[in-house]
Amino acid sequence: MKLLKTLLASAVAVSAMPALAYDAGDIIVKAGIAHVAPKDDNLKLAGAGTVEVESDTQLGITATYMVTPQIGVEVLAATPFKHDIKLNGKKVATTKHLPPTISAQYYPMDPASKIQPYVGLGINHTFFFDEDGIVNHLGKSTGLALSAGMNYDIDDKFMANVAVWKIDIDSELNEGGKDVEIDPLVFMVGAGMKF
Ligand code: NI
Repeated sequence: MKLLKTLLASAVAVSAMPALAYDAGDIIVKAGIAHVAPKDDNLKLAGAGTVEVESDTQLGITATYMVTPQIGVEVLAATPFKHDIKLNGKKVATTKHLPPTISAQYYPMDPASKIQPYVGLGINHTFFFDEDGIVNHLGKSTGLALSAGMNYDIDDKFMANVAVWKIDIDSELNEGGKDVEIDPLVFMVGAGMKF
């Protein structure tokens, strides 16, 4: 009888706990507006001037698999970004690229919290295509990506999200041994759904 009472008491305690924001095995899919802002002065060419890669905005999508309630693995994808490339302020080329990024994430808050900030460390692989103008080849780039973001749970299924990534993207220009250092900040504002 004492055992039964203990079991009943703990069952009540368990059912009274608030639902966890995330459980191991949850999949969170988010979509939103993604803005890629390259750093300034991406390549200085002796005698020719400064190459600048301009910013662009596209549809971003992330998918996160929760390994535990506080650790996730996230993939960032997007529709292709198109950037103008300027030499001394004058547009001389365009390029498109895709920057898939996979990150391990840590959610430090109590898993019951509606507000879930997170930090991530990952790897980015960027490839360029449809180059046009004086750029006829931009090499692919693999580099580290640091990220941070916050989910706000609207209910058990839906959430709002803001996120930022700092990605190391260095791309060799025209196979000439000189890297265009793009190293962008990527901002995303969107909404997500938990499965
Ligand atoms: Ni770099």
